[in-house]
Amino acid sequence: MDQVRNPYSPGAGARPSELAGRSSELADMDVALQRALIGRSGKSQLITGLRGVGKTVLLHEFGRVAVKRGFIYEHIEVRDAEQLPLLIAVAARKALVKLGGKKKAKGANRRALGVLKAFAQAHPAAASLQNESEVVAGVADSGDLGSDLGGLFEEVGEAARSLEAGVFLTVDEMHHLPSPALEALLRGLHRTSELGLPFVLAGAGLPSLPAVSEEARAYAERMFRFRPIGALATDEAASAVLAPAAGEGVSWKGAALARLYEVTQGYPYFMQEFAKQAWDLAEEGSDVIRPSDVERSIPLAMMELDQGFFQFRAAKTTEPERAYLRAMAELGPGIVRSADVATLLRKKTTQVAPVRDALMKKAICFSPRFNELAFTFPMFDQFMKRWMPSLL
Ligand SMILES: Nc1ncnc2c1ncn2[C@@H]1O[C@H](COP(=O)(O)OP(=O)(O)OP(=O)(O)O)[C@@H](O)[C@H]1O
Ligand SMILES: [Mg+2]
Repeated sequence: MDQVRNPYSPGAGARPSELAGRSSELADMDVALQRALIGRSGKSQLITGLRGVGKTVLLHEFGRVAVKRGFIYEHIEVRDAEQLPLLIAVAARKALVKLGGKKKAKGANRRALGVLKAFAQAHPAAASLQNESEVVAGVADSGDLGSDLGGLFEEVGEAARSLEAGVFLTVDEMHHLPSPALEALLRGLHRTSELGLPFVLAGAGLPSLPAVSEEARAYAERMFRFRPIGALATDEAASAVLAPAAGEGVSWKGAALARLYEVTQGYPYFMQEFAKQAWDLAEEGSDVIRPSDVERSIPLAMMELDQGFFQFRAAKTTEPERAYLRAMAELGPGIVRSADVATLLRKKTTQVAPVRDALMKKAICFSPRFNELAFTFPMFDQFMKRWMPSLL
């Protein structure tokens, strides 16, 4: 079929033509955003889920809802704690500049830019921020990240409120933040939520979000709903596949759709990839995708996923790490016990602990419970078996 008109979009953060199965998250976010605009408290969301389930596209969709409601929207993706002050400072600056452009910048906006300048000077990681404003000292420049973020968010929220707007910030890949940085962020946010300011943050990350102190956890529970997302149910998966095709006048045979669901288990990234390949392989000029198209697309889609989605990260592992992953795969698709992996490798648990820790740091695995381990990618066990047919 016409590749140019192919409506499927496999790719990290690639907006699907049909965002299926996330209507309750979107509706709740819309309510929280509207409440923030009128100074009422509401719960934002922290989205967790395995790789490729659609966390990033959901954050961007939240952003679209926010813009419709009159918010300025900024998105950041964290890699480590060191960068956090700079990323936030850059996002705050962009938001303030956009707010300033909305109407003639008023006092609150100028003041917030001055507070931001002092914040950037107090946090060396953010020192490179360009800002021509005059420093406003004493609000966000103590050097303590949590309290300074509180001061900065308050100024940004005040500036937004004075212009009858709001600021919405999404933070992606939050699992990269170590506990102190996450705690600082939560402490900072708590301030704006207490004051009922229209500054809202939503986040996303792997299920391995770090543990935080009791106090920070209490803040988090007051400010956020924790939303795990995963594979799509059959009806949601059907709309993810059928709606984009229908837009191009194309339908799917029931058995073709059923086979697609079977091989992808409803995981969004996989569905986009397999549907894209099936479309490209279907006969030119046809307006229906048949089971044979899906069947022929399987090896191609699998190859694309292996090279793009799985190997992209797995390639950065060492040989002992790959042996560890392969042993995990042998033990099954779900949660495995660290002790069983060690036994399979004929090693003591303590001997392989550094390897396991390195894999968690690389975010290929996470520990859902003490002494247990799982892959952060759906169907990673099958990939490992394709990549390394036998145990080392
Ligand atoms: N609800 C959905 N309906 C249909 N397709 C979706 C949906 N959510 C995500 N997708 C598709 O799945 C793919 C992965 O989405 P996204 O990059 O947002 O996942 P992610 O959870 O952020 O992954 P990672 O953890 O690797 O960052 C994209 O190709 C996107 O188009
Ligand atoms: Mg993502």
